[in-house]
Amino acid sequence: MNQMNPEGYTTADGRKIGGVLMEMKNITLRFGGVAAITDISFDIREGEIRAIIGPNGAGKSSMLNVISGFYVPQEGEVWFKGYKRGPMKPYQVARLGIARTFQNIALFDGMSVLDNIMTGRLTMMKSGLLSQAIWWGKAQREETEHREKVEKIIDFLEIQDIRKTPVGRLPYGLKKRVELARALAAEPRLLLLDEPMAGMNVEEKEDMSRFILDVNDEFGTTIALIEHDMGVVMDLSDRVVVMDYGKKIGDGTPDEVRSNQAVIDAYLGVSHD
Ligand SMILES: Nc1ncnc2c1ncn2[C@@H]1O[C@H](COP(=O)(O)OP(=O)(O)O)[C@@H](O)[C@H]1O
Ligand SMILES: [Mg+2]
Repeated sequence: MNQMNPEGYTTADGRKIGGVLMEMKNITLRFGGVAAITDISFDIREGEIRAIIGPNGAGKSSMLNVISGFYVPQEGEVWFKGYKRGPMKPYQVARLGIARTFQNIALFDGMSVLDNIMTGRLTMMKSGLLSQAIWWGKAQREETEHREKVEKIIDFLEIQDIRKTPVGRLPYGLKKRVELARALAAEPRLLLLDEPMAGMNVEEKEDMSRFILDVNDEFGTTIALIEHDMGVVMDLSDRVVVMDYGKKIGDGTPDEVRSNQAVIDAYLGVSHD
């Protein structure tokens, strides 16, 4: 594999990975005196499934928050689609084509599955509330379009039978799937998943893995994910960044990372749970 090729590379399973979509350059992020991330650089390529792994407290969620624009690092640069990114508001991030799920589920418990997923399209709705009141017809057409897109995602993730159910009544694994559906509703080019399989049983993990692979395959969505389960990461991802105490200690294919001595010492050989 030639990771340095600016045109991209072909994976072992024959998928074509493109050029650099996102580049993190020498990122340092501090909370007060504590450095959550120290001088980390890596890139995410178009079409890739990129994993970030590491023990608890390594700085993974912080890194995802830098990628999503939620945190602005004290040092370093974030490049997206060839442009250096400045501080951004959440809706600007969404318009760039970046969507995410959270380590702790962040859905509206009292709302139905369908309505929760619809909120994922809010930043894409052209008609504001006022114009919706005036141009009723236009807003209705728009609404129909949004509903059709959302229904497609519901079919895709096989949650038709719970579309009217309030999210608060769903088991954990399905909530996580609804969260994925909401992120997909924004039709992201880059999808960020913070521990999408944490707290799941084996069967739920297998389902979620399959859906992540299908999303990548079907929509060509680039995915950056944080995961604790090493087996899952090795199966799912094209390339892996390994973090420990805020530093990058490994970066490469699952095989490369697995045989990296620093990674073995810091992570694989030791249980941090
Ligand atoms: N909002 C915050 N304020 C202060 N410290 C934080 C904050 N978020 C994370 N940290 C600290 O930064 C370090 C990395 O945390 P985090 O990114 O959540 O790690 P991980 O996701 O790998 O478990 C930890 O020491 C954590 O306590
Ligand atoms: Mg975390």
